[in-house]
Amino acid sequence: MPETIGDRLVRGDKGSFLDGLGNAVGAVVGGFYRIPGTRPLKDVLHGTWALRHPLHPALTDAVVGGLTVVAVLDVIYLFQRDPSLLRATDIALVVSLIAAVGALASGYTDWNETFGNERRLGVLHGLLMSLISVGYLVSLWLRVGGGSRDAAIALGLICWVLLAATAHLGGEMAFGFGTGVDRQAWAEVPGDWETLALRADALEERKVVRAQMSNGFALAVAKLDGALYAIGAVCTHASGPLDEGELVGDDKCDVKCPWHGSVFSFRSGTALHGPATMDEPTFETRIAADGRVEVKLRGAGGH
Ligand code: FES
Repeated sequence: MPETIGDRLVRGDKGSFLDGLGNAVGAVVGGFYRIPGTRPLKDVLHGTWALRHPLHPALTDAVVGGLTVVAVLDVIYLFQRDPSLLRATDIALVVSLIAAVGALASGYTDWNETFGNERRLGVLHGLLMSLISVGYLVSLWLRVGGGSRDAAIALGLICWVLLAATAHLGGEMAFGFGTGVDRQAWAEVPGDWETLALRADALEERKVVRAQMSNGFALAVAKLDGALYAIGAVCTHASGPLDEGELVGDDKCDVKCPWHGSVFSFRSGTALHGPATMDEPTFETRIAADGRVEVKLRGAGGH
């Protein structure tokens, strides 16, 4: 497979250097989210709450778009020296920097639930974006604090070039490593009722087990208050095994992924807490005449 820019940036000695940086940044981010009461904020920043897909790429679009507007207006100003452009440019820069605060917060929150080369490239991407944001803050200070407008523009244009290069690394996170991508997106699930190699009377109350459909699709199955429930067993965040997760919640009807702690409702498949933002496929269940469990994808046709 051809090497990408990201691959070249994270291998060898650079990889171990980035591991050290990642450990330091991870200690800060992880330490923050160990503070009681921060889980709602974490769910908002992942996009699990309300948005129900990753928040970070939505905010980065606003940042890159806004700062591109700033760069274009700056270049026009250099040629025309039209002072009426300055106010619009400054407003676009302020709005972009506000969006950048959200992009950085959501980005570091998502990044803290990654590992390996994905984590190395992510910390590089995040720290470079942080430095670029500081550069833009200095540019803003020069603009509104009475400094040299030409120096502010020069700094802004340098930052924009760095922004474009660093955004490329962010794209590689999503398209190369699948960061934020629903790990069930390509799963093919039979639409008809299927009989599992699992006897209903062998299931213990509130004990999650793994089962497979005929095409290998993995299910997590549990008996909750006497009723059978089945959802996808592969965590939509990063493929963690939900059948190895513990049941949590007041009524112990939600399953917590053992890898990064996403919580899904066993009854509806809904992602309740991040980092996962996408729901699990859910299945209707019934018991066959021979006592085995049968399942069918909820909402699918079939008979
Ligand atoms: S794999 Fe990350 S929370 Fe499940």
